[in-house]
Amino acid sequence: MENKELTGKIALVTGGTKGIGKAIADRLAQAGATVIITARNAPADNKYGHHFIKGDLANASEAMTVISSILEKFGKVDILINNMGGSNSPSGGFGVLTDKHWEDEIQLNLLAPVRIDRTILPGMLENKSGVIIHISSISGISPLYESLGAYAVAKAALINYSKSLSKEVTPKGVRVLTVSPGMVKTETMDSFLGTLAESAGTTIDEITQNLMASLGGIPMGRMADPKDVAELVGYLVSPRASYLSGANYVIDGGTIPTI
Ligand SMILES: NC(=O)c1ccc[n+]([C@@H]2O[C@H](COP(=O)([O-])OP(=O)(O)OC[C@H]3O[C@@H](n4cnc5c(N)ncnc54)[C@H](OP(=O)(O)O)[C@@H]3O)[C@@H](O)[C@H]2O)c1
Repeated sequence: MENKELTGKIALVTGGTKGIGKAIADRLAQAGATVIITARNAPADNKYGHHFIKGDLANASEAMTVISSILEKFGKVDILINNMGGSNSPSGGFGVLTDKHWEDEIQLNLLAPVRIDRTILPGMLENKSGVIIHISSISGISPLYESLGAYAVAKAALINYSKSLSKEVTPKGVRVLTVSPGMVKTETMDSFLGTLAESAGTTIDEITQNLMASLGGIPMGRMADPKDVAELVGYLVSPRASYLSGANYVIDGGTIPTI
């Protein structure tokens, strides 16, 4: 990639060690940004030399310690990718979800990005510039009640919050956007499909087809590659997208049936 349009920019990618976050971190580094990644475990592969900072960002006090140390060390964050998220709840519909499952999904997928934004935003507002991306999911628009009920609610709330924040801070120079992927082929997706297949007593191929069918099919005929999502994010944070704020970009190979 020759275009170094993000040179001089400091980017923070939460959950940037694996899957979609890793692809985004690598894409931003290719465009010249200095990239900081966070997660609970160090990355297995860090060929772009991202600055790794360890921490459980779903834990409020740990998240504040991590973000404060980043601001102290790097002085500012120009690009914030709230990518960390996922579902740790069992499948089986409403009856299997306890208060604890609901609380955990909301902490990880909604409150963690809200807290991280609250810590990073004052610096962006002072500089009158910055971009924040919230990685949501098409399940926030089209819920999968059997396997991802509580997660989908948290992601729906994240889309709403992202829109609200954009209304508040876009006039002050900070762009806020949401990216909602459909099914993306990550290791976590593979193990999610493996668990579903085991509990349904079927094969991963069959469960993949079932899940794709439950979404109404994927017209593109395949899951996204993490790089597909990274390419969109790379554009959205760039100066080429300087008029874009407040929108939710669905990247799902045509899955969502509604307009
Ligand atoms: N894959 C999909 O099909 C898909 C579809 C739609 C939306 N999404 C969304 O896209 C985002 C990335 O998904 P992914 O599939 O790429 O996930 P992934 O491969 O499981 O990676 C998740 C990243 O977040 C980190 N992380 C998880 N919990 C954390 C915590 N409590 N504190 C700090 N870091 C934590 C993980 O590292 P550690 O485990 O080491 O902490 C890892 O770096 C998520 O928000 C997900 O909801 C994914």
